[in-house]
Amino acid sequence: MRFPDGFLWGAATAAYQIEGAVAEDGRGPSIWDTFSHTPGAVLRGDTGDVACDHYHRWREDLDLLGELGVGAYRLSVAWPRVVPAGAGPVNPAGLDFYERLVDGLLERGITPMLTLYHWDLPQALQDAGGWANRDTAAHFADYAAVVHRRLGDRVPYWLTLNEPYCSAVVGHLDGRHAPGVRDERVAVTAVHHLLLAHGRAVAALRADGVTGQVGITCNLTSVHPASETPADVAAARRLDLHENRMYLDPLFRGAYPADAEAYYAPVTDFGFVHDGDLDLIAAPLDFFGINYYERHHVRADPADPERGWQRVPPARPTVTGIGVHPEGLAEILERVSREYTGLPLVVTETGLALHDYAGPDGEIADDERIAFFEGHLRAAHGAMTRGVSLLGFFPWSFLDNFEWASGYGVRYGLYYVDYPTQRRTPKRSARWYATVIRVNGLP
Ligand code: FCB
Repeated sequence: MRFPDGFLWGAATAAYQIEGAVAEDGRGPSIWDTFSHTPGAVLRGDTGDVACDHYHRWREDLDLLGELGVGAYRLSVAWPRVVPAGAGPVNPAGLDFYERLVDGLLERGITPMLTLYHWDLPQALQDAGGWANRDTAAHFADYAAVVHRRLGDRVPYWLTLNEPYCSAVVGHLDGRHAPGVRDERVAVTAVHHLLLAHGRAVAALRADGVTGQVGITCNLTSVHPASETPADVAAARRLDLHENRMYLDPLFRGAYPADAEAYYAPVTDFGFVHDGDLDLIAAPLDFFGINYYERHHVRADPADPERGWQRVPPARPTVTGIGVHPEGLAEILERVSREYTGLPLVVTETGLALHDYAGPDGEIADDERIAFFEGHLRAAHGAMTRGVSLLGFFPWSFLDNFEWASGYGVRYGLYYVDYPTQRRTPKRSARWYATVIRVNGLP
């Protein structure tokens, strides 16, 4: 099974999950510093204070990426390193760090793909309301322009946001992520302000003459009713609204879905949408990033027949409780291409959490991860043969890292990180992936 010449074989990380050095060289605090230091918020009280110490070990890490043979690397820029208070003075030392990374990648022949926001909102902006405050969108665009002015001549792929669903909903409705709010009205407002931030940032990059490709990454789910009963079908449609269409429709159709206002009416009206917002949000992009982790079978919730749903638990849950469904990736790629956009797509993340450990021989035998990626690559390839334009595939993650509310309790990396020594060791999946890259397909 071969992929097209020039297919982007990548790997992905995010700033707060790997960098550490949270108080160095002028970095300001982010909502994840605050949240991870809040008792009870993160498993075992883990924080990103040190993480993979990538801030100091970046050279060694870039060498590992070179050894792996990836053609591209998706990293995120920490807004609080670059603009420590979110708005106002720029911290040149923060920009210097990302410049070293970008130059280091280019020297190794690796194409940088930069995410501007992977959840680490400057705490000062949270203190002013965070994503519930419309001004945050304007500050994001200013920050995007600052990064672009320094790195625009060298970065071929720009992503504004990573997973606005998680920022808005997991952070403001479920409360499992920073800032830990549990308020549906705030969550829906945050959805809009995040999308507006994306739109304003795209406008800022375009105004600045961006030559790289500009996109956004959404996490999308494949949603199926558990049965054909009208109640289950309606529940699945609501979950699809909540997880997918609230992002896809404004981005690609310039409007919230027709059922959105009625669904959210019990908690909020859409008065946060101002004239012109949707034009900004739907401005043309160059590519679209998709993160895929979850496929759901959905049934009605008898306790909340009007607004609720239940996700049927997977038959064989993984350590995070979700199932493995490679076919869901093909479904999503094809749905997006068919219903929403002809833009080239990139799988900017997919991956499997395991409790990896080194055996007596030192080998980290993550065969389930190899099977996971093999299945997802087959699914992606199938979608391509059915007409989907797919530019690249970025496993989550290059390194084991701080997995948000799960702390260091689960591992997603191709490379094992022994946190006490910070030693990196390629897992069996890293060696397998290096071969995939070399032969440009499944060996
Ligand atoms: C995604 C996040 C990423 C990582 C993976 C496992 O939702 O974008 O940072 O945590 O899940």
